[in-house]
Amino acid sequence: MILHMLTKNKKFKSAKSILKGILVLGSIDLPAKLFDAVLYSYRMCDSSSRVFDSLFKTYAHMKKFRNTTDVFCQTKDYGFLPTVEFCNKYISSLLDLNRVDIASGFYKEMRRWYCNKGLLSSTVKLKNLMGKDSLQLNVITFNTLIYGFCKEEKLHEANMMLSEMKSMNVTPNIVSYNTLINGFSQTGNSEMGGRLYEEMVRNGVKADILTYNALILGLCKVGKTKKAAYLVKDLNKGNLVPNASTFSALIIGQCVRKNSENVFQLYKSMIKSGCHPNKHTFQMLISTLCEKENFDGAIQIMQEMLERCMSLDTGILSKLYSGLCRCGKDQLAMKLLNEMEIRCLLPEGFDKARAINLKLWS
Ligand SMILES: *[C@@H]1O[C@H](CO)[C@@H](O)[C@H](O)[C@H]1NC(C)=O
Ligand SMILES: *[C@@H]1O[C@H](CO)[C@@H](O)[C@H](O)[C@H]1NC(C)=O
Repeated sequence: MILHMLTKNKKFKSAKSILKGILVLGSIDLPAKLFDAVLYSYRMCDSSSRVFDSLFKTYAHMKKFRNTTDVFCQTKDYGFLPTVEFCNKYISSLLDLNRVDIASGFYKEMRRWYCNKGLLSSTVKLKNLMGKDSLQLNVITFNTLIYGFCKEEKLHEANMMLSEMKSMNVTPNIVSYNTLINGFSQTGNSEMGGRLYEEMVRNGVKADILTYNALILGLCKVGKTKKAAYLVKDLNKGNLVPNASTFSALIIGQCVRKNSENVFQLYKSMIKSGCHPNKHTFQMLISTLCEKENFDGAIQIMQEMLERCMSLDTGILSKLYSGLCRCGKDQLAMKLLNEMEIRCLLPEGFDKARAINLKLWS
């Protein structure tokens, strides 16, 4: 009764702390008893469905995720539903904790309900309490799920979500498309990215820089640099400005093609445009330049990393060092190592003495 009164008067914090107290200390079967008690006193107290919201939220805050889903199913059978905002937040916190399994289970429950379009299932006992409570999944629900599946590289499931939202008359927006295109691009599936892009244009959703960056990355990852260059032109036509992510993607493309000339040119235009490469991009540049034995280029990039106090990984440093030694630039190689040591930028695990010894014996 206290819970009903508190939630009816929107004293959610107090309700939550009472619930927490009960649940933390209570016996195992208490949650089920609590649920029944709340349910059967509901009418007498002329309560509102917010009391169940409190129950969900408390379980969710206590990270009792299975219980949250269980309670969701139970209350759903009685025609009570949490708000869609709560569901969205709940799914998103599950995904933050990498619990895509529970998130998709929860979604399935939401969906079953949704598909009944407000009709109660046959087990419903308190039918008269229903009516206004019906759960409308919204675009945020789906975008959250699409994001979660993409993060786990479950692209098939992510794509199913897009179909599903369309079948439920929830219109995909720019976030839905961008997330999905990016997901496919990250795994090198540029065809799907392209198809989604066409669909989005057909549906009148205007591409933004994130769309282009994702598409360009997808193409570059598989070395389709020409197509990527066309997209850069489109981007300019659309009055969008390429940023560091665009350049990094283009650099990836040239690295995949092992074209060290173009890699270097791109790097220069990136700097000229005021964009800053991150460590990953720098390392990719150095690695490609070393493979192509363009050590002057590699050293120039390396110096710029040092100026930014960025270190590089052991593997790449070894590659650069041994490459320099191989073409007789031992002194330069030593100078570089010394400089890194002075700035405390020698990567952990890189043994300078050993590197020099190996060199002496080779
Ligand atoms: C909550 O979860 C625990 C562990 O899975 C289970 O033992 C307990 O019965 C659940 N409570 C409810 C109300 O479902
Ligand atoms: C490029 O722009 C997009 C959109 O504003 C942004 O999300 C992204 O973080 C930017 N990339 C970098 C590296 O700043």
